[in-house]
Amino acid sequence: MYSLNDHKTIETLSLSEIRHDLRQMIHFDEEKCVDNLLLTTELTIGERNRLVDAARVYVNKSHAKSDSQGTMDYFLQEFDLSNKEGVALMCLAESLLRVPDGATADKLISEKISAGRWSDHKGQSKSVFVNASTWGLMLTGGFVDIGSEVRGNTDNWFKSFIKKTGEPVVRTAIVQAMRIMGGQYVLGRTIKEAIKRGIKENSENTRFSFDMLGEGARTMEAAEKYFDAYKAAIMEIGAQNNETDPYAANGISVKFSALHPRYEMSQHATVMNVMIPRITELALLAKEKGLGFTIDAEEADRLDISLDIFENLARSEQLKNWDGLGIVVQAYQKRAPYVIDWLNKLGRELDRKFMVRLVKGAYWDSEIKHAQEMGLTDYPVYTRKASTDLSYQVCAERLMMARDAFYPQFATHNAYSVALVLELVEKWDIAADEFEFQRLHGMGHLLYDVVKENSATGFNMRVYAPVGAHKDLLPYLVRRLLENGANSSFVNRFMNMDVPVDELMQDTIKLVEEKSPKRHSMIPLPKDIISHSGREAFPRKNAEGFELSDPLEINKLIKSLESKKSWTAGPIVCGKMSLENAEQVVSPTTGEPVGKIGITSNDDIEKSLTASVKAQKSWNALGGSARAEILSEAANQLEARCLDLMELIADEVGRTLADGLSEVREAVDFLRYYAGQAAENFEGAKLLPGPTGGRNELYLQGRGTFLCISPWNFPLAIFIGQVSAALAAGNSVIAKPAEQTPIVAAEAIKILHAAGVPSDVLHLLTGDGATIGAKLVADERISGVAFTGSTDTAKIINRSLANRDGAIVPLIAETGGQNVMIVDSTALPEQVVDDAISSAFQSAGQRCSALRVLYLQDDVADIIIPMLKGA
Ligand code: FAD
Ligand code: 2OP
Repeated sequence: MYSLNDHKTIETLSLSEIRHDLRQMIHFDEEKCVDNLLLTTELTIGERNRLVDAARVYVNKSHAKSDSQGTMDYFLQEFDLSNKEGVALMCLAESLLRVPDGATADKLISEKISAGRWSDHKGQSKSVFVNASTWGLMLTGGFVDIGSEVRGNTDNWFKSFIKKTGEPVVRTAIVQAMRIMGGQYVLGRTIKEAIKRGIKENSENTRFSFDMLGEGARTMEAAEKYFDAYKAAIMEIGAQNNETDPYAANGISVKFSALHPRYEMSQHATVMNVMIPRITELALLAKEKGLGFTIDAEEADRLDISLDIFENLARSEQLKNWDGLGIVVQAYQKRAPYVIDWLNKLGRELDRKFMVRLVKGAYWDSEIKHAQEMGLTDYPVYTRKASTDLSYQVCAERLMMARDAFYPQFATHNAYSVALVLELVEKWDIAADEFEFQRLHGMGHLLYDVVKENSATGFNMRVYAPVGAHKDLLPYLVRRLLENGANSSFVNRFMNMDVPVDELMQDTIKLVEEKSPKRHSMIPLPKDIISHSGREAFPRKNAEGFELSDPLEINKLIKSLESKKSWTAGPIVCGKMSLENAEQVVSPTTGEPVGKIGITSNDDIEKSLTASVKAQKSWNALGGSARAEILSEAANQLEARCLDLMELIADEVGRTLADGLSEVREAVDFLRYYAGQAAENFEGAKLLPGPTGGRNELYLQGRGTFLCISPWNFPLAIFIGQVSAALAAGNSVIAKPAEQTPIVAAEAIKILHAAGVPSDVLHLLTGDGATIGAKLVADERISGVAFTGSTDTAKIINRSLANRDGAIVPLIAETGGQNVMIVDSTALPEQVVDDAISSAFQSAGQRCSALRVLYLQDDVADIIIPMLKGA
């Protein structure tokens, strides 16, 4: 992989080599990434000092002009996400406008408002309007005199106000306030309205990039709707365009996720076939109208596919000789400078210039969570704010140095980043029409006014202007509220007079160099989050995962899939697998042969019972710590076999590869969790509450032989969960998997044996539940049963165990697996659909018919049902 300070890169490497390096960077070690960035910056110490001084001037001058700061800026500063009240307001803003009935709206308002200590904010803000006493005034839109009692105690005022005016008035006021909040960020409901308002509210030469709200389409119908909205917008912007070059003209920003419900790497072929003609149609229209057409950057796992689409557009004959094709680069991603190099190379190969908007990135929180949830090797983004700023600096230099290939567009609300760009302008004597600044509508106006007044350098300004209805605003609004509310955000601290300007504005390189390690110490690697949290009873390594959107990982998977495997399974008794009377089985989805399965004989049942009973004592005596080591080793071996187990789960059961991945990870986690239990609770004495009070010293012991009966829908995870729990506690195990999934079960047993579980302690009996299972349940030598499956079968097992003589035999039954979801209209429909899919189909393994969703409002049902059908 090349180093960022190798200036010959673009000439010497091919486009695909740069792309390969870019791909390798996705989860690259942060320490190395930051070192790489530090190597490459072009600014001298003198220039760095000068830019810090300039940034401080901008901030000081902005403080002096603070009366021009918008009320909303003050408001968001006071009610930011670091306090409960700010969070309550964000929840209201996010959901209130979707509530169609008054009674529910009142309940939501009352729940959220009563959760806060509003009086804490009394008199805190510089803005009278925002002070806690006037917060009520704002909510009521200014038509209610709140009187002096309010200034005394906002919380009491609120209650008495509700009493006096009645809830509907308060509700109307709060709904109105939330609309104001939304209106802060949206320029207009229609493109016509937006263009008109944009011209009215901004200085004469302001350019716009309009964004038609709507993203993450879940159905083709929604995608069509957004497509039409973009098309109509381009026509309208074009109709009002008097400029001849796309830089000076207003333009459009497009989110690809709005244009196809499966805009994701796993659907690469469909995306390329279906999306490209549609996007080309939009781009062509923009070209004809002389506009800029910019592709917004979304989640990190969409970057690679977005570059494929971009390359396709760039190579299109129809879109030749047009400088308006643009793309956004997110500096917070480790890949950012490599993306710029790739674009540079592509542009040079095709002899064309691209518009490139450099942002820091708006999805940081979800990137961090996603990487943790998936157990990725590292994060795609930096974990220290200063590193993101440094990356922005490096990317800005790269763009400015290649102005023959780029029209750089610097989108930031940070005074330091603005000063940095202006320092580069000075350093390289860059003309005002060779680049531009961009800000979001509703943000950054004060800063740029101040910069204009205090900088010798001229520049052009473009406003990113969202257009659309409130119902499509929410994801965008949440990103803006996060951006304004996060205490790491420049805008959040900018006008806070308590933050010294010298502290706010410091040399980025110095800040980065001072920090060690480069990764934030409070953000552990995804593999360490469970052990690091301090909240887990059994700290353990998070199961490793990978992105099915990562081309390098996909290549490994494809290679693994290409090596054809032939599986065999059958009863495994005392470590020996029997293939007697083996039958061929085929995949339930493709009908292709999967492997051969032997049949369990009465002799196998008898042998497994005798051997397991005999072996249990020494297994129990081995102790919890030794058993924990074996289970941990099994977890590691299972993890190492991830790819072929994913394939097997797909072949034998018909689950998707993504499902297979999450199954393997869950199974690994079960093994590690129960290893923790074994070491903690089954090694030596435990002090436990005694029957007559006090605490008794107890030695937890295995009971004997456990029978584990698992279902088909989680052939690996539930199977391993039951077996490892029983083994951890010192039991021997006879495992009886579902009839449909003996091969997955046999592979799991082989791994457990290889890891050190003695072969006479753990046996597998494949075959029919009604015959083999029933026989085992009734056998006196079975000391406990773990069962997951239908309630009917659990009842049969229960009755059979009750019929047995002797001590009561424990039955651990997990039955009925049908999830119910209650959805009311405050829920975001897209979120409901995602949750329904992940909870019902992926976590519970249900089929569509098994999901019950209770809608509390018909209109929500109208939206959700088609989405679920589409999914
Ligand atoms: P700053 O406060 O200086 O920086 C905020 C950045 O630091 C954020 O990216 C944040 O995630 C990051 N950060 C915070 N904490 C940490 C940490 N601990 N470790 C690492 N990084 C951290 N965003 C997109 O994603 N896609 C787009 O297409 C897009 N288009 C935009 C268009 C315009 C015109 C503008 C102005 C913004 C656009 N944005 C887009 C949003 C943009 O990403 C945010 O506005 C931007 O990140 C704020 O940067 P800043 O320089 O103003 O603020
Ligand atoms: C966003 O939608 C502005 O594209 C950026 O958050």
